[in-house]
Parts: sequence; C-alpha cells; structure tokens
Amino acid sequence: MKVAIFASGNGSNFEAIAKSTELRNAGLEIEVLICDQPQAHVIKRAEKYHIPVEVVKLSDYDNRGLYEQAIIEKLKPLQIEYILLAGYMRVVTPVLLGEYPNHIINIHPSLLPKFSGLEAIERAFASGDKVTGVTIHYIDEGVDTGPIIKQCQVVRLQNDTEETLEHRIHQTEHQMYRQVILDLLNKNNGDK
Ligand code: GAR
Repeated sequence: MKVAIFASGNGSNFEAIAKSTELRNAGLEIEVLICDQPQAHVIKRAEKYHIPVEVVKLSDYDNRGLYEQAIIEKLKPLQIEYILLAGYMRVVTPVLLGEYPNHIINIHPSLLPKFSGLEAIERAFASGDKVTGVTIHYIDEGVDTGPIIKQCQVVRLQNDTEETLEHRIHQTEHQMYRQVILDLLNKNNGDK
C-alpha cells in the first residue's frame, strides 16, 4: 500500500511509522514526505530513513487550491493510495479531498470534537479535564472533523505537568497510528 505522509514540524509520528518493520512487512510503502515548512525537523527524519521529501510552500502559490494542485501533481506519478497527515498544520481543501476522497487520515491530540484546532494539548491541560486523549479520523473539509476511526483516552495524573501529559499523549499517538495503519493494511491485503 503506497502512502504519502504530510507533516509540518517535529515529525515524531512520521518516525514512529517510518521505523516500524511490522508496517513495512505488512506492505506499507512510504513513497514521499510532503512538508510545507523547509526548516521542519521531520525532513531530517525522512532523510534518515531514505524517504523522498517534497517541500511545497503555500507562499509559492497564489491560493490554497493551486498549492494543493501542485502537491497532487507530485503524488499522481507515485500512485498514492492513502495520505496520512502527521502533524500537518493546514486545513485540507476540496481540491485535495476531491482527488483522494475517504483516503486522507489525520491524527489529533485530543478527544475530538473537544479541543479541535491548534494547541490542543495546551488547551486540554489548561481546562483541568481529568481525561484527554487522541483521535484518528478520516478528514473532511472542517478543522479536525470527519468520521472517527479510533479514539483512545489519556488520563491526566495528579502530578502531571503539561510536558509529562504531552509526552504520554505522543506515546499514545505513535502506538495508535501504527495500529490504525496496520488494520488498514490487513484490510487492504484481505481485499486483494
Ligand atoms: C501531534 O500531536 C499531532 O496529533 C498534532 O501535531 C503533533 C505533531 O507532532 N496534530 C494536530 O494538532 C493536527 N490538528 P509530531 O510532529 O511530533 O508528529
């Protein structure tokens, strides 16, 4: 199963997927990392795993539609089946959605619909909620909306700081994203 991963920043989710031999053995092929931030650390991670990188900057295009069209032109020859968003900090427009309907998956560090959008972990921590979590979902045109594939809770411990809570959320994300992709691979392998 050929995928493209989209990321904008650190890339810990990207690396959790890229380093998994279980996923590779089950047929995952990461054809390209699409990154909108030339300085993002995720690019270094991709180089470590010899995964091709395409940096596509929104500021190089007149509007979001043209920006996504440029991305589509890079994906088409690679015969990408799924797009995995892993810390991709942009709203996807109907241009990309129309090209890959029901085949774009996002991970978000909260129990959606709570704390959608930016700084979800910070806002969940500030809210004092005893339980937060992670959501993996197919995307639609909204911000962190669309059919949910999997949600897991992360309990806030009494002594948690924002950093310790964030650390456990990221650990949960990495494990969850691998499992969701594995389920997808197994389903695809069964369908063939
Ligand atoms: C992750 O927590 C991911 O859920 C979040 O960005 C972080 C990226 O971390 N995504 C969103 O908030 C999307 N709305 P990473 O770069 O270390 O994978």
